[in-house]
Amino acid sequence: MSTKTHYEDLKQQIHEHNYRYHVLDAPIVSDLEFDRLLNELKQIEAEHPDWITADSPTLRAGAKPADRFIKVTHPAPILSLGNAFGADDARGWFERVCRIDDRVERARFVVEPKIDGLSVVLHYHDGIFVQGATRGNGEIGEDITANLRTVKSIPLRIPVDEKGPKPPKVLVIRGEAYMPIKEFEKLNRKRAEEGKPTYLNPRNTAAGSLRMLDPAETASRVLKLLVYQIVHCEGGKIPTSQWELLEYLKALGFPITDIARRFDDFEDAVAYTESWDKNRDELEYEADGMVIKIDDLNLAKDLGFVGKDPRGAIAFKFPAREVTTKLLDIKINVGRTGMLIPNAVLEPVEIGGVIVMRATLHNFDYIVQKDIRIGDRVLVKRAGEVIPYVIGPVLGARTGKEKKYKLPTNCPSCGQPVERLDDEVAFYCVNAACPAQLVRNVEHFVSRGAMDIVGMGTRIVEKLIETGKVKDIADIYYLKRADILEAVTKKERKTEKEPPGKIAENLLASIEASKSRPLARLVAALGIRGAGEVSAADLASHFADLDVLSKASAETLQQIAGIGPSVAESVAEWFSRPVNKNVIKKLKAAGVWPQGGSSANAKSRASNALEGKTFVITGTLPTWSRDDAKEFIESHGGKVTDSVSKKTSYLVLGEAPGSKYEKAKSLGVKIIGEEALKKLVG
Ligand code: IVH
Repeated sequence: MSTKTHYEDLKQQIHEHNYRYHVLDAPIVSDLEFDRLLNELKQIEAEHPDWITADSPTLRAGAKPADRFIKVTHPAPILSLGNAFGADDARGWFERVCRIDDRVERARFVVEPKIDGLSVVLHYHDGIFVQGATRGNGEIGEDITANLRTVKSIPLRIPVDEKGPKPPKVLVIRGEAYMPIKEFEKLNRKRAEEGKPTYLNPRNTAAGSLRMLDPAETASRVLKLLVYQIVHCEGGKIPTSQWELLEYLKALGFPITDIARRFDDFEDAVAYTESWDKNRDELEYEADGMVIKIDDLNLAKDLGFVGKDPRGAIAFKFPAREVTTKLLDIKINVGRTGMLIPNAVLEPVEIGGVIVMRATLHNFDYIVQKDIRIGDRVLVKRAGEVIPYVIGPVLGARTGKEKKYKLPTNCPSCGQPVERLDDEVAFYCVNAACPAQLVRNVEHFVSRGAMDIVGMGTRIVEKLIETGKVKDIADIYYLKRADILEAVTKKERKTEKEPPGKIAENLLASIEASKSRPLARLVAALGIRGAGEVSAADLASHFADLDVLSKASAETLQQIAGIGPSVAESVAEWFSRPVNKNVIKKLKAAGVWPQGGSSANAKSRASNALEGKTFVITGTLPTWSRDDAKEFIESHGGKVTDSVSKKTSYLVLGEAPGSKYEKAKSLGVKIIGEEALKKLVG
């Protein structure tokens, strides 16, 4: 029987594994084992909903969407920081505070990164995370608890390690939530692939993600957190030095920065701060400076404030990686999906050691909203590894000679009129024969994650399209040696070590080999808007081949787990186009016809021993999760359903079963355990 103690123990285990993975970056169980524990917890909660409390790890998945955020008053003002620009400015601050209180001369200093994220305020009552809020105006913020619960590095219960210190009855912590730069770029790549507008920078994206009304949306974004302050505390003692405070927060299980240092001498603190200006790209988040804090928190408090800035700390800002330069032109790139992407052509300029000549303008709405004109002096930002982007025009520098940008009416590549979809900010070239799109489509089709055709670089692709040998992706499979030889440009002849004949042979061999790629890869390779690798795999597992998939309506496609309405529409629409129907026909005729779906499942079946038998699973099985048991039954031809009826062949019984057990007994259904289930297949 599942006891409450077992449930609590399981919860504690999950908290610790989560902490090891998301805070310490040192997991000791595999993802699969972790999922098993979480699944077991979910099962217990399904049977004992009254046991669920605010610290349950299952709540991280995202609660129901809200209509709006409720305003909350912070227990103490959420202060800001004064800025110092450069070492001399920082020394000026030091001298000023020394004059106010001579204890500062002998003080120690803690230097921390200044994370360019979003300030959040986390409330813990009796060690349980009960509320999380935005900073708002410093006095009143918004309750974003459900969203913050989805941030895995936020402990839902402290101390995470039972051996950690016992926290005060009420503890209110402040930290900075952020989106790691790599995650931001990944998200933008995905959005671009789905034809959605890309986001501006990690900070805005993190802020936007935390303010989404649907917590499940927030859960889909990778957000992290670093904490650095205790805002309020009741019923307990907390350290009075910033350094010890960080150690204390760490011992409770909070994520803290690992680059904080304590210094006895102010000049050493300045030198350390300056060293991070050069190294800031090493950090996984955007840092716009370092914060120098007086270590003695009582002394810092005694120093008081200037407006909203405490005197006891100063933000040492890094030189901004923002410069102004002239916008020479706006060029349009045509993406694979036909989406037109505006790019800024800039007068070359150095930003943080890198010469920048191009920058993104995001989308056409952005150009209009910011009233960016050709010839404008524009402010350009480069942060971390993020592609430089235009922040906006410097209005004061206008001469009157700048030209207003005219939105495109025709595709710059094929000249066909462009279209704007109702719910998107992007413009599209919908001409399936557009050469620029075709180049991108072929590039995508042959790419590694798709059909993986080696040796088909952009130049060859462009040439094959120019010479009319490739008019659609299927033409790749009809290429002859002579076509490829013709497409091998002078440049390739010079740079490639291989003679042209060998290049052609290798390419033909690679094309041939690609015919055996699985259906999921082929579906992803087609470049249907919204159908990336994951959706393609979902589709491929449900359909036997492209013919069957192409006949499915948007309604049918939507029934598939993981396929949303917009992807379903987009897939159905793609297959309905005569040009694409022709492509499929040509692929089939060329022998590019992988099998997927039910036939693939049938092939992977271990046996038919359970064919015709229906199973219901209840309770916690000794070693298997419910999903494991389900997979096992299905792989032997059996069926698993949710509720017990007279038709149920077996009830698979685990610890702490629910009402299904009673029902099975009353109906006389055969009851077996995990071991007996295994034996059924011999
Ligand atoms: S201390 C009294 N420490 O920077 C405490 N702030 O420009 C004042 N920030 O509003 C804040 N990293 O949101 C502090 N290590 C850090 C920080 C940090 C980022 C943010 C914070 C603050 C803003 C001031």
